[in-house]
Amino acid sequence: MEERKKVIFSGIKPSGELTLGNYLGAIKNWVKLQDEYDCYFCVADLHAITVRQEPKDLRRRTLEILSIYIAAGIEPKKNTMFIQSHVPAHCEASWLLTCSTYMGELSRMTQYKDKSKNMGDSISAGLFNYPVLMAADILLYNTDLVPVGKDQKQHLELARDIGERFNNLYSPTFTIPDGYISTSAAKIMDLQDPSKKMSKSEENPNGYILIMDPPEVIRKKVSRAVTDSIGEVNYTDDQPGVKNLINILSAIKSLSPEEIVEFYKGKGYADFKRDVAEAIVSELEPVQKKVTELLTNKDYLESIYKAGAEKANYVSMKTLRKMQKKIGLIQR
Ligand code: AMP
Ligand code: TRP
Repeated sequence: MEERKKVIFSGIKPSGELTLGNYLGAIKNWVKLQDEYDCYFCVADLHAITVRQEPKDLRRRTLEILSIYIAAGIEPKKNTMFIQSHVPAHCEASWLLTCSTYMGELSRMTQYKDKSKNMGDSISAGLFNYPVLMAADILLYNTDLVPVGKDQKQHLELARDIGERFNNLYSPTFTIPDGYISTSAAKIMDLQDPSKKMSKSEENPNGYILIMDPPEVIRKKVSRAVTDSIGEVNYTDDQPGVKNLINILSAIKSLSPEEIVEFYKGKGYADFKRDVAEAIVSELEPVQKKVTELLTNKDYLESIYKAGAEKANYVSMKTLRKMQKKIGLIQR
């Protein structure tokens, strides 16, 4: 009998334009894993709406992210790509899991604390429950491995706790997933303030590179990236700006930071930055061309997300039914 392939699940929420951080920290890893695993990649639109989204932007970005997945090299024939809201079991499982998740655990989530800090009284209950929906996403597919950036590690640990708790309360139901966090691109930092992660929600656009930024914009942003006055390419926390650029180059070129440091010995930042910029441009340019092309072919995109939802529905409903039965809900 053929051995069951291990399952991978991951997603990105369409709450802003995707950055180089999303690309290197998430998507590029997925492309490498697709041959070995049975992969599910969703566009997490239900996570995006935990903060207010302009409906037309949400629609545009949802399809753009799906196009980026495909353009980056995720094969539609081999993988299940779908839009989270097309698979109702996610919301249902999320409710069932919410009932055995504690307020205390959710209020300790650093992403929640950061995001809700300046919201006053208008923090949505969805933002608070965000990690439970993410646990449902993951647990429904008997996922073995979850490739994400470092910022999602805490959410993943909570998903494991929630899954283990359910298994103990009722009986073994879920596979408890492991995280898969690539080292060099685990956290791509802001180009203007390398103490913060590169994020689309930053105010200063020079701090982030968007996957869809034109080449000349990418070159300008890299040339303006904050470094230091040391003038040597070293991989150390004392030079966070340079370290971040090394991480970017390392992730794109599959070179170790040590190899990069060795190569730039005796050279200044100008050469180094130019190479970083060119590496990014040559990585992203083909992806951008493909995305633009895909976005003009809505029927093709639709065929992919429909097929994805069909498969995802089938698998997730099986798990949801098990959950309902164990909890004591009457089967319809
Ligand atoms: P999000 O955009 O928050 O939905 O994140 C989607 C995926 O991209 C998650 O796996 C994140 O961990 C990853 N990610 C986002 N920003 C970065 C970053 N600056 N560096 C590395 N990974 C990131
Ligand atoms: N919350 C994740 C993020 O912001 C996106 C996400 C939603 C996700 N569901 C997931 C990631 C399931 C991994 C697995 O990055």
